[in-house]
Amino acid sequence: MKVVATKTGLRQEMEHSSRPVVLVPTMGALHDGHLALVRRAREIAGPEGTVAVSIFVNPIQFDRAADLESYPTPLEADLAACRAAGVDVVFTPEAGEMYDGDRSVTVTESLLSSRLCGATRPGHFDGVCTVVLKLFLLTGCDAAVFGEKDFQQLAVIRRMVRDLDVPVEIVGFPTIRENDGLAMSSRNVRLSPEQRQDAPRIRRALLSAAENFRQTGQEILETARGEIEKSPMTRIDYLELVDAETLQPVDEIKKPAVLATAVFYGDVRLIDNVTIFPNRELKALAR
Ligand code: PAF
Repeated sequence: MKVVATKTGLRQEMEHSSRPVVLVPTMGALHDGHLALVRRAREIAGPEGTVAVSIFVNPIQFDRAADLESYPTPLEADLAACRAAGVDVVFTPEAGEMYDGDRSVTVTESLLSSRLCGATRPGHFDGVCTVVLKLFLLTGCDAAVFGEKDFQQLAVIRRMVRDLDVPVEIVGFPTIRENDGLAMSSRNVRLSPEQRQDAPRIRRALLSAAENFRQTGQEILETARGEIEKSPMTRIDYLELVDAETLQPVDEIKKPAVLATAVFYGDVRLIDNVTIFPNRELKALAR
């Protein structure tokens, strides 16, 4: 496994990497969810292709300095996990390597980014689109794998690739969960034991609300809100029911819709979502 920290080093490495090149962009603090993305990347690349992982805590996508400063960065453990998972190339740049001090170009997606995480984290998706496009250009990857927990991020990146004719296939991968249903996240380690014990309620709330897919959007949202707010430890950042494609709010489930939330436990912000299909019992969806 090659580990490179400079853009020049990465370009040189990628020049003689065998195709297809499949990228898994991450911010490190790798957990089983990331490793599932790596396994998917290997399936796509095949034994002869190249699996690349980027580990970069991208400062320009953080809206709160405290969140950036407290983001876990266990680089040695991450590299060991990548090695064990059979990754070929790991890119670990510093912020100064990725961004010039006077950088003045940003990639903005202006429609799908406006709600949900985009509304409560101004500039977040500009930061995501900018770094992801840079990573695509630097690696010259053929495909890239992203988790569906960040379903808005996935939708925004698909739109960026479509609108800018970026020749990279975007592959989504289902959310990997702890045994109690909590979506795996690098932020979970920052929960106190009490918060960690309580946090599976987010998933429970979304599932129990989504079971009522024949109700109005308002009723679905009330059910989820009620369950989340039963805990005095939670503070809802947003809770929305949106069309799965356009991400615009809906009030009935006529087409696939996504019930999505971001919930604070103290200063730890967790996101999760469930897709609701018209006329389909949720049992089939719960995984
Ligand atoms: O999902 C993430 O970890 C980040 O948003 C990404 C895609 C690696 C960009 O920094």
